[in-house]
Amino acid sequence: MTASYPATRLRRSRAHAWSRAMHRETVLTPADLIWPLFVTEGQGVEEPIASLPGVSRWSVDGIAARAKEAVELGIPCVALFPNTPADKRSDDGAEALNPDNLMCRAIRAIKDACGNDIGVLTDVALDPYTSHGQDGLIDDAGYVVNDDTVAVLVDQALNQAQAGADIIAPSDMMDGRIKAIRMALEMGEHHNVQIMSYAAKYASAFYGPFRDAVGSGGLLKGDKKTYQMDPANSDEALREVALDIAEGADSVMVKPGLPYLDIVRRVQNEFDVPVFAYQVSGEYAMIEAAAAAGAGDREALVMETLMGFKRAGASGVLTYHAPLAAQILNG
Ligand code: PBG
Repeated sequence: MTASYPATRLRRSRAHAWSRAMHRETVLTPADLIWPLFVTEGQGVEEPIASLPGVSRWSVDGIAARAKEAVELGIPCVALFPNTPADKRSDDGAEALNPDNLMCRAIRAIKDACGNDIGVLTDVALDPYTSHGQDGLIDDAGYVVNDDTVAVLVDQALNQAQAGADIIAPSDMMDGRIKAIRMALEMGEHHNVQIMSYAAKYASAFYGPFRDAVGSGGLLKGDKKTYQMDPANSDEALREVALDIAEGADSVMVKPGLPYLDIVRRVQNEFDVPVFAYQVSGEYAMIEAAAAAGAGDREALVMETLMGFKRAGASGVLTYHAPLAAQILNG
């Protein structure tokens, strides 16, 4: 119940900064941020990514340096994605199982540099390793087959856990993979390795710059609509989340971010599990393009979108703007 005007004037509480601070309902801190990083071969290498202005691929030494930077900024976790050299990509994505692949070397370098001062989240899916750019194994018709792919994803997850990954994040959208991975982690005595499931991941047009960054964009023929979700669906996202929780996910993700805040809110309302949102590469690029075109203040745009995720009920946000946002938050 609210008294009517003029007894109630909602502008009263907005008149001064101290009062706005006192009435603020949502807080954003560096601890809400997960920083996605792209790894590439070499030593001392930084390769800027044209479609993601301000974001680079780093060689393993540079990745360890970024992780140290994250610790200093109060960012609790980094997410790793490899740009596998072309000659190591194959039909079956076998490089994903190599204990010395880029991903595993990056995990070890971060753990050597930072120990448990930071969490390392690793993506499980075959697209950075396949010559066709799909997230799984394909049959003669090019269809991504489910159960055979799950068997490979289990080995990929174990490979990452053995290298020291803290959070396994399957982004492949195969059915049944969370249960298979959780059981394999338990059997392998990786009891404290978490699973953050990309539970509601949509077949989106916002992944373009990411595919450039991991080098799968030029390889991919067609789309991922036979496994990633239809952007028109919302009830189905709740079914995906319910299944992944039942299969053993510790937390779930909604992806992309801004166009799907309604899904974040529904998941938050209906389940007692932390929900994270991924502000994906195309969203980052859109903000950067808007700022470059003079259509808005870059820092203000970034902070407003990140606050939006928290307000929608997200426990945290994966964002390429993580270091900028943390710097702003740290003053
Ligand atoms: C791959 C994967 C993708 C992203 C994260 N993991 C791309 C895709 O599904 O094609 C996208 C992230 C981004 O756009 O920032 N399984």
